[in-house]
Amino acid sequence: MRYHQIIVVGGGLAGLRAAIEAKMQGLDVAILSRVHPVRSHSVAAQGGVNASLANVPEGKEDSPERHAFDTTKGSDYLADQDAVFAMTEDAPIRVIEMEHWGCPFSRTPEGKIAQRPFGGAGFPRTCYAADKTGHALLHTMYERTVSYDIPVYEEWVVLSLIRDADRCRGVVAMNLQTGDIDAILADAVVFGTGGSGRVFGRSTNNIISSGSGMAVAYLAGVPLKDLEFVQFHPTSLFGNNVLISEAARGDGGYLRNAKGERFMEKYAPKAMELAPRDITARSIQTEINEGRGFPGGYVHLDLTHLGAKRILERLPAIRDIAIHFAGVDCIEKPIPIQPGQHYFMGGIDVDKDAASILPGFYAAGECSCVSVHGANRLGGNSLLETIVFGARAGKAAARYLAGLQGGTGNTPEGRKLADETLERTVLQINRIRRAEGPEDPSDIREKMRSTMIEQIGIFRKQDQMEDALVKVKELQDRYTRIGLRYHGLKYNLDLLTNYELGLQLMLAEIIAKGAIARTESRGSHFRTDFKERDDANWLKHTMARYTPDGPEMSYKPVTITKFQPEARRY
Ligand code: FUM
Repeated sequence: MRYHQIIVVGGGLAGLRAAIEAKMQGLDVAILSRVHPVRSHSVAAQGGVNASLANVPEGKEDSPERHAFDTTKGSDYLADQDAVFAMTEDAPIRVIEMEHWGCPFSRTPEGKIAQRPFGGAGFPRTCYAADKTGHALLHTMYERTVSYDIPVYEEWVVLSLIRDADRCRGVVAMNLQTGDIDAILADAVVFGTGGSGRVFGRSTNNIISSGSGMAVAYLAGVPLKDLEFVQFHPTSLFGNNVLISEAARGDGGYLRNAKGERFMEKYAPKAMELAPRDITARSIQTEINEGRGFPGGYVHLDLTHLGAKRILERLPAIRDIAIHFAGVDCIEKPIPIQPGQHYFMGGIDVDKDAASILPGFYAAGECSCVSVHGANRLGGNSLLETIVFGARAGKAAARYLAGLQGGTGNTPEGRKLADETLERTVLQINRIRRAEGPEDPSDIREKMRSTMIEQIGIFRKQDQMEDALVKVKELQDRYTRIGLRYHGLKYNLDLLTNYELGLQLMLAEIIAKGAIARTESRGSHFRTDFKERDDANWLKHTMARYTPDGPEMSYKPVTITKFQPEARRY
């Protein structure tokens, strides 16, 4: 049986940063990742990472407090403000650290890290590497991981947590290359497993953003928080939903409807195209729904006035994506775009040190909900949360290990527990691997995704969501009768994706139940039947706990320190 002091699950930015921190503290840490780390979804982040560096002349007065204010207002006041301040105060430290580790940030003429304006931000505070910031950060972080000689279980996927009544003791995971399932004992486990975007149709997310990490934690008794808050990025490529970065608007791009109008004037007269994502996505969808979009359902992102030099220097990836996936050169023609599912504000409930209620279990990045994004995340705060809370998770896990009573989990008692969890997990996985029922899982998956995007999407309404919940329950029932086409062991993606489908249907139910219950509009959760924010009744986090009969929902208060809730105007 394998053992490490700390096992980090996820090879994206949050996971790698946590592992580096633990290693810097002298601990035996290993990373387990379903893909080679540089293929993690962090690599797809484009526009940048926020920090109040004030490296631009007009941004001199920027500060962590102003960053915290923009983040809190952007969150529609659902973010926990102690956590927000922790993030914005750590932000300059972590970004400069990435610079010192070699991240090739774009530069100002004076040679400082360049910063661009992003939606909902009072200052140009989004540090960037052209429009490939996630790529630049992830490769830098991975090089660091290699230099620290941190072992990586590559192409392994986590299946369950090993835990007893008191603490987390490791994970059970499958080696995709062989199909072997094994237990890895650890004294602390950190999840940086990413988001659950693929529960929805029209997602900008990589196919590995399945949500299985969230679900594995949930099944082990760790609550999920605020899952009904799902972000729709305003600009994804029409038809295939590849992300078209907010950087395009940060650098001066216009949104135009089919009449050529810059319609954001109606919805956010001051911020225009740089309103926060929830407002911009709704504005675009309103134009489309009310017949001012183009046939099929899209509007234009117009960059033609920016000129070839600026586009080639600052938005080269956007240009490539538009050429290759839409046949449009944005130097000459506008890009057809529509909103696409992009990010989960909710996730595994953790505090500002990334600690969950289960001692020894931590989570950071999109799989977690600290909560720093509340009901709506600002662009550029996602990359930031990975490096800030990844480091905090590594530190907190190290502190936990230092104070651990009763020694390590690598004891006869720990190994017995691991064996029992392993046995249960193998039985469950083999049941799916051998399944020969009549139901086609890909049909179930497509129906889940279309139901979620169409009925629990940008605009939500009671009867539509209740109908969606009925459909999700029917799909859960059909799921019990699925059949797989491939029953082998080696690299069985039929097994992996269909095992995960069961988990996704569970997440879909939590999202639906949370959204139906929340009879208000806040951030990304916009109800056409309850259009106003209702602080008297709903300034609280939704908690979902696993029970065999479905999620048990409850609520907990939001931490408000400095900024009292007020109306959001942009
Ligand atoms: O638009 C973007 O570049 C995405 C950034 C983000 O989600 O933070």
